[in-house]
Amino acid sequence: MIKQAIIPLAGLGTRLLPLTSVMPKELMPINGKPNLQYILDECIEAGVKEFIFIISKKKLSIKKYFFNDSFYKKIIKKKKDKRLIGEYKKIKKYQKMIKFVYQNKPKGTGDAVLKCQKLIKSKYFLMLLPDDLIIKNNCSKEMIRLHKKTKGSIIATKRVERKTVSRWGILSIQNKKKSYFRIKDVVEKPSIKKAPSNFAIIGRYILPTKIFSEIKKLKPGQGGEIHITDAIRSLIKKEYKFYGNIFKGRYLDCGTLSGYINSGIQISKGN
Ligand code: G1P
Repeated sequence: MIKQAIIPLAGLGTRLLPLTSVMPKELMPINGKPNLQYILDECIEAGVKEFIFIISKKKLSIKKYFFNDSFYKKIIKKKKDKRLIGEYKKIKKYQKMIKFVYQNKPKGTGDAVLKCQKLIKSKYFLMLLPDDLIIKNNCSKEMIRLHKKTKGSIIATKRVERKTVSRWGILSIQNKKKSYFRIKDVVEKPSIKKAPSNFAIIGRYILPTKIFSEIKKLKPGQGGEIHITDAIRSLIKKEYKFYGNIFKGRYLDCGTLSGYINSGIQISKGN
């Protein structure tokens, strides 16, 4: 059973500057709700019971957002505002599920995942990148279902325009069925020429604990960072089973300014 989800939150959010100079991108509201809360709600609906947030000293406001009890208690005591009481209850629910680990240097997703090693209790866990919202159909739920069926690791994927392949991790595919396929190989941000397909990795992964020892062996890759993609690649080479889940939902990229603005518009329209 997949009960734990880890969420890397230590990134600097430079693509959204100057907004992110004072506010973590994961707390920026999309149609009145912080980006991160969409991710949490998707996981909770899929049966996740515990979240591990990977933050940094520069992102302590994420901790404050969820752990600010005395502030709420004081205001609620004075105002007895029903709406606020409801919101505080929601925050208390999240609060019980969240643990923190720290990644004070932005050394990549692989390095972020490694920080969680001691807290992971089962053989598989979920990892979500909060830049990537998927609406309409619960992608984590689909992935957990596919994991149960295949007993393997799962990566969320969708076809992207060929000219954009160098923005993503790209999958090499085998035995394609209607909604999933076996992953033969994976390359982080390839050139158009070298891309083995146009199936891109979107930020949802079900990973095995074996990934930790693979990350430890990695040397910094693209951009001097430790990439989770490279650790996945070594596991695939060792015959670990990885499957691409071609998700049904709608993908919204919140990591760039135009994507962030569009996400708000699409969600408010109910698209
Ligand atoms: C990361 C991953 C990449 C994946 C992408 C999805 O890249 O390294 O493989 O396709 O997320 O959003 P980043 O967005 O951090 O450049």
